[in-house]
Parts: sequence; C-alpha cells; structure tokens
Amino acid sequence: MLINITTLPGDGIGPEVTDQAVHVLQAVAEAFDHRLKITQKNIGGAALVANNDPLPSDTVQSCLASGAVLLGAVGGPAFDSYPSRLRPEAGLLRLRSELGVFANLRPAICLLGLESLSPLREEIVRGTDVMIARELLGGLYFGERSTKGDSGRRRAVDTMSYSEPEIERIARIGFQLARQRRKELTSVDKANVLDSSRLWREVVNRIGSEFKDVQLSHMYVDSAAMALVSRPTQFDVILTENMFGDILSDQAGAVVGSLGLLPSASIGGKVGLYEPIHGSAPDIAGKGIANPLGAILSAAMLLRHSFQLEAEAASVEMAVREVLADGHRTRDLAGKTDRPITTSEMGQTVAGRVRERVQAPAN
Ligand code: IPM
Ligand code: MG
Repeated sequence: MLINITTLPGDGIGPEVTDQAVHVLQAVAEAFDHRLKITQKNIGGAALVANNDPLPSDTVQSCLASGAVLLGAVGGPAFDSYPSRLRPEAGLLRLRSELGVFANLRPAICLLGLESLSPLREEIVRGTDVMIARELLGGLYFGERSTKGDSGRRRAVDTMSYSEPEIERIARIGFQLARQRRKELTSVDKANVLDSSRLWREVVNRIGSEFKDVQLSHMYVDSAAMALVSRPTQFDVILTENMFGDILSDQAGAVVGSLGLLPSASIGGKVGLYEPIHGSAPDIAGKGIANPLGAILSAAMLLRHSFQLEAEAASVEMAVREVLADGHRTRDLAGKTDRPITTSEMGQTVAGRVRERVQAPAN
C-alpha cells in the first residue's frame, strides 16, 4: 500500500531523530513491499525563521493531504521572548487543532533489562506498562484566556472548560484502549474541587456502563501523581484531561527512566500526528547523541493507528527491543561501562534489524 506521510522535523534534535525514524520506515516499506511517500515541511522555530509563522499554511495543507504526520520536536531558547502567538509551541497547538486530534496516547513502558534507568528502585518500577490517554483539544489549553488591567495590578485568567461531548469521545478511546490491554481504566480528575472534573467523572461513569468488561476507577490527580511514583505497576490505562495528562505523562516518562524512548500518537481527527515526547533538547542538538528510539517508536504507532499495519508496527517494536536487549545504547541509556552509539548508528541498527526480521521471521 501507499504510506503517504508528511514529516515535520522542527527544532533542536527533532531533525536528527526524524531522519532515523524515516530510515526505519524505509526499511519497513522495503521489507513489507509498501510504497513510502514523504513530504517534509517546516514547523515551530524552523518555520518562524523561514516564514515568520510557527505553522505555515502549506504545512497544514500538506499534513491534511497525507495519511499521517510524523513530528520531531518544536521549541528552543532562541524563541523564549517571542509573543505567545509566535512561539514554536503555538504552532504545535494549532496543528493539533487543525488536525482535530483530540486523543493523545502516551505509553510508558519499563522494558525488561532497563529497570536501572529509573530513578526508582528496580522492584518498584519493574513491569510498569502504563498507557496515558490524554484529552488534547480542551481544558486550560484551549479555554478562554486574558491578561487585563494596569501594570502592577494586572490579572491573568485561563479557563478550564469541558463539554459532555468532549469528555465522551476521549472516554470512549480510553475504554477501547483498556479493552485491548489489561482492562483497567483509571480516570484522573480533581472532582473534589473543580466543576469541570465533576462533569468529567459523571460522563466517564456513563460511558463506562457501555464497557462493563473494563474495570473503572477514579483518582484525584494529586493522589494519582503519588501512586505513579510509589506503585506505577498498578496502572493500566490512565484517562485524563489535557493539563493533568501533560504533567502525568512527563512524570510517567521519568518513572520508567527513559524519556528518549517514549513515543506518542495523537488521533481521533482527520489525520494522525505522531511524535516522540522528549521535546527539542537544544542542549544536545546537532551532536549526534540524541536517542532516536522515541521517534522510531512513534513511527511504529503511526503504522498501527493511521495505516492499520499491525505486523509492520510490531516488527519495528520488536526490532527496538532486540537492539536494546543486545546492549546497543545511545548516551542517555548508557551505563558507565557501555560504549554509547550515535543517533544514526542506532537508527541504522534498528532499520537493519527490521530487514533481517522480515527476511528470517522468528517463529
Ligand atoms: C507536550 C508538550 C506540549 C504540551 C507543549 C510543547 C505545548 O509539553 O506535548 O506534552 O504541553 O502539550
Ligand atoms: Mg508536555
């Protein structure tokens, strides 16, 4: 089939890791006999420099005309003083909303053998396998906001707002994910304080009655944050609103100790958007030491969710696990005794493994 995607390398380490994800997609296309068509466009700081707009309209058009979008990262210190509308992050938020991707899936898995990367004790983190389903187009990020008044007495307001249909559609995604996993869903809110959370809980309970095979529980976000570090293995799927999901997903990444390994998928809209969660990491950009596995695993999610290519997605994920099990490490994963490999060596190694696996499939 035709795998027609737009890549948005963006800023910082974005271009380096996206390159490697593209190599792996090329390996998948060859091994499984698909045709890969890639259009590269600007976003974020790269687009601000080139077009004075963090999300140029030809980028949006290309994304909407493709089967999926693979993004590297946006942002960097050079843009910190830009007005909010012209920040790289504004480009990403607008892209999410142009694509209509309301469901952000962020898996955080502690891979066997990588327990020591976690800042937590190995016995606490071992076996952690959480999927965060974060609402992506509502809440504080998209509510009304303003800053008013005279200097020294100004007041800034952000609004956390959710409608029933917005909660319903993300809840359904959460329950469906749980159904394909261990069938446990924890909905995270702050219903002891917030109206938006009380509505959230009510709607999630209602949708839950359609998924009787999934065990639903509710947790306040503060206690979820605590549970995520004290007993991370208790979670299967976490369903939560935009801001809580932003925070908890970084926390989950830190818990498994390998931010560089973690992918994400933003789905539910016209076209899916896939990106590693590590961000632009300007301090290590251009040095060839960034970990491309988050981007590569995002490409696997792209194959699965936007093209329904499950075997292809699984071949990438298996290749990554094997390469790690063989001891290949980028600098962020390397122990004192390992010799770290570069970004492109890691990409080539995974791509090579994808080709080998398909030529000689394990049974
Ligand atoms: C993320 C990032 C973004 C967010 C920023 C860059 C706007 O932190 O994808 O988690 O807050 O959603
Ligand atoms: Mg974040």
